[in-house]
Amino acid sequence: MSDLEDELRGIVGPSHVLVDGDLRAPYETDWTRRFTGSARCVVRPGSTAEVSAVVRACAAAGAPIVVQGGNTGLVGAGVPAGGEVLLSLTRLGRIEPVDPVEAQVTVEAGVTLEKLQAHARAAGLDFGVDLAARSAATVGGMIATNAGGIRVLRHGSMRAQVAGLEAVLPDGTVLTRLTGLAKDNTGYDLNQLLAGSEGTLAILTRARLKLVPLLPARVVALVAVAGTDAALDLLAAARARLAALSAAEIFYPDGLDLVRSYAKLPAPFTEPAGAYVVLECAGRTDPTDDVLELLSTCDAVEDATVASDRAGLDRLWSYREAHTEAISAAGVPTKLDVCVPLGELSTLVAELPGAVTAVAPAARAILFGHLNEGNLHVNVLDAGERAEEVTDAVLRLVAAHRGSISSEHGVGRAKAPWLALSRTPEEIAAMRRIKAALDPAGLLNPGVLLPH
Ligand code: MLT
Ligand code: ZN
Repeated sequence: MSDLEDELRGIVGPSHVLVDGDLRAPYETDWTRRFTGSARCVVRPGSTAEVSAVVRACAAAGAPIVVQGGNTGLVGAGVPAGGEVLLSLTRLGRIEPVDPVEAQVTVEAGVTLEKLQAHARAAGLDFGVDLAARSAATVGGMIATNAGGIRVLRHGSMRAQVAGLEAVLPDGTVLTRLTGLAKDNTGYDLNQLLAGSEGTLAILTRARLKLVPLLPARVVALVAVAGTDAALDLLAAARARLAALSAAEIFYPDGLDLVRSYAKLPAPFTEPAGAYVVLECAGRTDPTDDVLELLSTCDAVEDATVASDRAGLDRLWSYREAHTEAISAAGVPTKLDVCVPLGELSTLVAELPGAVTAVAPAARAILFGHLNEGNLHVNVLDAGERAEEVTDAVLRLVAAHRGSISSEHGVGRAKAPWLALSRTPEEIAAMRRIKAALDPAGLLNPGVLLPH
């Protein structure tokens, strides 16, 4: 054991190989506190060359590796199952100047979303993906999980932003394709294969990212509606009539109660409602008039509050964005992230609480998510010992409604046993063949994505 640690110290420097339990601890438990395991050691390389050398040393020693970015993942993919070398990429923090002609930027994998956004905005552009964990989530982890967030409606998910990648294969080989060409039909698209592969095929070290126009005029409406059907009516009207629509999110009264008591927020409306929708529009010119016109003519709207100044935007968004922290403050949730066709969403929402309490009578499911994609975050509190049964019941219900067991968080360790609910045996066999071709020894993220 100490031979490998000594070799790793020689590669990254002694202070970046953490063996002591107290130093390892922050890396060994995930954000939700549900997944935890002890690493053999934590290694923090500072360059692609160091990542490659670390991987070669681990491969030679037959030591499995778990890859970690900002440790904001929600499916247990970035924490060890037990005994792996944990490779933390947070020291890979270099950002190159924005290329204003291509509207692209090259950044290292450990750059946080917040830093990327600030860098793009300083150059008069913006980054197309946004999510609540922006201060800690890293570019590498977001590509590896194909993260979604609140602006998928406008710009697509993380893989749509990728113009190029640099990655280290499980034998230490460095693949570099960072030219960012808009058209390049020269064979297999390896970048898109690695996006969403959850660290099972390669370690992402750098990315060439597409940027989008900076849209300074923003307006947010928090809308009270009768329930999910009315929310979908509002969404349809918004999509048809608001060219500047950039987000459409949903939450429910039980989530609102948790958020209000956690974040000390006032009730947004005098009367309670069956569901709440956050609509956001962004443009070069102020879209407020179009939003107000929609709100005053759409029958689904019971009440609404609108903001377009910075403080007001933050206040209205906080009712939605504080859900994750408010739920986590109430307990360790079983977090499930699913999507169904929009025509199935209302039935799923109606059936979910019963499906959960049928297997865990004391549990309660808090629902919120990305309305436009039919993407519900199902957060089950008080499942106790019944978390596996709850997961099974919810994911089977979602599959019965022709949905996906992972909409944007990935499969990780949390949902690997249920992968066959969303992918055919032939697809899983093809994925296994790809994994075996690139990582024949199974060194990268064992147990993640593909069930043992
Ligand atoms: C969100 O949409 O807020 C994130 O996916 C985080 C979560 O599901 O808790
Ligand atoms: Zn989400």
